[in-house]
Amino acid sequence: MVLDLALGDPEATARCGRALAPAIDAGMVITLAGPLGSGKTTLVRALLRARGVTGAIKSPTYALVEHYPVSSLYFYHIDLYRFTRSSEWETSGLGECFRDDSVCLVEWPERALDRLPTPDVELVLSYAEEGAGRRLRLVANTSRGERCERAARAAMTQRA
Ligand SMILES: Nc1ncnc2c1ncn2[C@@H]1O[C@H](COP(=O)(O)OP(=O)(O)OP(=O)(O)O)[C@@H](O)[C@H]1O
Ligand SMILES: [Mg+2]
Repeated sequence: MVLDLALGDPEATARCGRALAPAIDAGMVITLAGPLGSGKTTLVRALLRARGVTGAIKSPTYALVEHYPVSSLYFYHIDLYRFTRSSEWETSGLGECFRDDSVCLVEWPERALDRLPTPDVELVLSYAEEGAGRRLRLVANTSRGERCERAARAAMTQRA
């Protein structure tokens, strides 16, 4: 299933993150592709807030991964921007983030595509051709991903 959305401003990106939040559960993997500054971290931050994360949510560009325990679930916010070769995956230890009791949100997945498990949801952000906004394509690869797609569709198309 594929959903295409226009995100007119940062608040629309955040609204999409909040819409996805309740549809996510343990073991899921969501990738966020798109050029520099296209809104990946904005979406993840809103999603994590909606799941109850209260402290600072930093972009993991330098740390590679930030983790947020929420009750018995571990959210890993991963940013592979600084990966130059997917062979760095082994030394990074990032493979340990992908577990039944975790949720992985991965920016720049194209840097290690041959190492990542198939994501439940692929999000692809891009700059809108006109104006200052963004576009989002959501591709659901699993039944749980389809639940996310329905949640985003319901929240994002009702005010259209
Ligand atoms: N729909 C939107 N329309 C316009 N601006 C947006 C939209 N969504 C997010 N932004 C803005 O884009 C800027 C960059 O956002 P963000 O840091 O989330 O991008 P990113 O994709 O994570 O970048 P990077 O690749 O560097 O990690 C922020 O100033 C944010 O407010
Ligand atoms: Mg980012």
